Amino acid sequence: MSTSNRITTTAGTPVPTNETAKTAGKRGPTLLEDYQLIEKLAHQNRERIPERVVHAKGWGAQGTFTVTHDITQYTCASLFSEVGKKTDVLSRWSTVAGESGAADAERDVRGFSLKFYTEEGNWDMVGNNTPIFFIRDGYKFPDFIRTQKRHPKTNLRSPEAMFDFWASHPESVHQVTILMSDRGLPINPMHMNGYGSHTFSMWNKKGERFWVKFHFKTQQGHKHYTNAEAETLIGKTRESYQEDLFNAIDNGHFPKWTMYIQVMPEEEAGQQSYNPFDLTKVWPHDDYPLIEVGELEMNKNPDNYFQMIENAAYSPSNVVPGIGFSPDKMLQARIFSYADAHRYRLGTHYEALPANAPKASVVKHYHKDGAMRFFTNDFDNANAYYEPNQYEAAHTGLEYPEPPLKIDGDANRYDVEDKDIDYVQPRALFELMDQAQRERMFNNYAAAMGPCSDSVKNRWYSVLEKVHPDYAQGVKAAVEALDTDVNTVPITDDTPKEV
Ligand code: NDP
Ligand code: HEM
Repeated sequence: MSTSNRITTTAGTPVPTNETAKTAGKRGPTLLEDYQLIEKLAHQNRERIPERVVHAKGWGAQGTFTVTHDITQYTCASLFSEVGKKTDVLSRWSTVAGESGAADAERDVRGFSLKFYTEEGNWDMVGNNTPIFFIRDGYKFPDFIRTQKRHPKTNLRSPEAMFDFWASHPESVHQVTILMSDRGLPINPMHMNGYGSHTFSMWNKKGERFWVKFHFKTQQGHKHYTNAEAETLIGKTRESYQEDLFNAIDNGHFPKWTMYIQVMPEEEAGQQSYNPFDLTKVWPHDDYPLIEVGELEMNKNPDNYFQMIENAAYSPSNVVPGIGFSPDKMLQARIFSYADAHRYRLGTHYEALPANAPKASVVKHYHKDGAMRFFTNDFDNANAYYEPNQYEAAHTGLEYPEPPLKIDGDANRYDVEDKDIDYVQPRALFELMDQAQRERMFNNYAAAMGPCSDSVKNRWYSVLEKVHPDYAQGVKAAVEALDTDVNTVPITDDTPKEV
């Protein structure tokens, strides 16, 4: 009998049947000795891992990045070394707040993560579909996220908490404007842009540093749902993004994005009215035009979703020579946070899982052992398990080292001095919108803010007033016109203190 197609235990021994458990007698109870029954039940109990604390619901694909324009004057990163060069990429798009079973078509910011498997290790671009963020200091991230998640008593999402937090942080109005605009609800990941959002740096072979922003513009065009369209859709399917993406790729309609960078010479930082390292600010295109770099095409559905997408571990700390960080405070917090999250969610050796293991570079490190050490890193010589050692001449160092970054100033906790700066760019965005776009945004606000208390509503109207009087007026009118018989109750048990 051929043994190649037999069901086996995890130890590889043949299983006599997968139909019936072993019992004491025809109608008797099951026997403890039915090891395979126990193994099946025990494995099932361990099939789930902790979901991501944010961005839990996601969709992903594999594909290729191709360089179309030369940017070697800005970076020595090997993936950009010549026009025509191709690099394998793993993408994952996500909503931020919803749990892993959340409906896809919900109004939320979308994550936009790309892992480039370069010859010099993995570069992770862990961005969003927005060029900015709600807050500018990582110190506030856990509090912010708490307002996006469930209330401890009701176990419901709380608009009261969201707008309470935003009203205390006027820098959030830029991102909230995008969230409430058409772009807050794309029809699927293929119809939205991606942004690195933070300022990063690049350095070239001459050791010159540049500040950069990353942009991935959809070639499919922007498409969005209204709230009403999304509600109808969610009634039919909660998995619309997964369906659209999987089917598009399966049918050979590969989605594409054009990659651009904005470049600021190192010495120009500080010459702007805004802080170029503040994540709540963009760099206006007129000042820093988009420079075309290449094309991203996602063309393969992973064979196993869990293995490639759920196990994917993206981190802004994964940079490659030629791409570096910046003084952005949020970025600094993220550089710590992600690898820590991965060790908790996936285990000590998460980097060696198929989704995360470098594909185009040789991994050679001296981390040893620990839970689930399922790979070898003896590198052909079992004696070379510490470094330096007498057996091998592996070396460290970069061919083109990162130039030093000048830093000065007193260690302290700083807030921004010019608060009015937070309203300038949201105003520019509001002024870009035509009246129909504005009306849709006002109505989206009404749906989102309807359940909030008057005190929270009024505090948010004051923020909007500083952006543009028409903005505040439009939102207020839409909220007041709303049918107030909403079935979600704001948490106003305690009288809010004066803020
Ligand atoms: P531009 O007119 O050169 O650029 C405006 C940008 O806004 C375009 O990239 C456009 O994207 C994008 N956009 C249009 N509608 C929306 C929306 N509802 N939500 C988010 N983005 C939208 O002007 P500036 O560069 O001077 O920027 C003006 C304002 O535009 C900024 O204050 C910022 O709010 C917003 N913005 C700026 C970006 C930047 O990097 N400079 C990037 C994205 C937004 P597209 O080209 O895809 O249509
Ligand atoms: C996921 C932390 C800000 C984009 C995550 C995860 C953590 C985290 C812990 C889960 C990681 C995992 O389990 O795999 C933080 C902290 C932030 C911050 C501490 C601020 C200090 C941001 C910003 C962006 C962003 C500003 C975008 C510009 C993402 C994306 C994911 C993610 C896209 C999902 C990655 C994936 O697809 O697996 N974040 N985050 N985050 N974050 Fe952040």
